[in-house]
Amino acid sequence: MHIQALDIYKHYGKKLVLRGVSLNVERGDIVMIRGPSGIGKTTFLNILSGIDLPDKGKVIIDSKDITKMNENERAKFRLNKIGIIFQNMNLIEDLSVMENIALPLKLAGKEWKKKVNELLKYLNVEDIKHSFPMELSGGEMQRVAIARAIANEPEILIADEPTSNLDDENTENILNLLKKINKEMNMSIIIATHDQRMENLEGKKYNMREGKLYEG
Ligand SMILES: Nc1ncnc2c1ncn2[C@@H]1O[C@H](COP(=O)(O)OP(=O)(O)OP(=O)(O)O)[C@@H](O)[C@H]1O
Ligand SMILES: [Mg+2]
Repeated sequence: MHIQALDIYKHYGKKLVLRGVSLNVERGDIVMIRGPSGIGKTTFLNILSGIDLPDKGKVIIDSKDITKMNENERAKFRLNKIGIIFQNMNLIEDLSVMENIALPLKLAGKEWKKKVNELLKYLNVEDIKHSFPMELSGGEMQRVAIARAIANEPEILIADEPTSNLDDENTENILNLLKKINKEMNMSIIIATHDQRMENLEGKKYNMREGKLYEG
């Protein structure tokens, strides 16, 4: 699995947020995109995952340009290939922890029970499986969001600010989990963050500045 973003541009109204962003991600890479709030990290991740389309530029995943697909094709592609941990986690309030994690498996038409049980154990959320998102702590919510994102065993995991609202202990916990997932499942992980505590994570580091990405 090889991901390539080529010369991405995106504006909102009069504001040109992305001005030629390119990025190359190889299978198994951990890539960190840093930069201050409002710089365009989420905008870029949404384009990488095909949630949003760029004004200009391409996103090539597995030699397919996803910007050329229609919305349905992109949604299907995403369901199987890309797991996303959203900045606000997007857990579904009316569904229990278990049901939230089962959702992508059900959408993909897969047998879900065994897999959900494995994930509940893997992410250490088994004892809250019948709870609803509103009843969870920040760290628990984040672990459930990770479980849901990796349920279909995607080759790419996108994590948007996975630690920003967590205390040090939970941050450490999430960092270790992401490392473990990267290693054990050979998933490429792309993380957007402005959290200094993420600096310990080994990987390729980039800074977003004035609409572009710079290595370092
Ligand atoms: N749907 C939208 N409509 C209009 N403007 C938007 C929209 N989404 C983002 N923006 C603007 O684009 C800029 C980049 O936003 P983005 O969410 O990508 O930043 P970010 O780097 O992820 O910030 P943070 O670290 O706070 O999450 C911001 O100025 C934001 O207000
Ligand atoms: Mg953001």
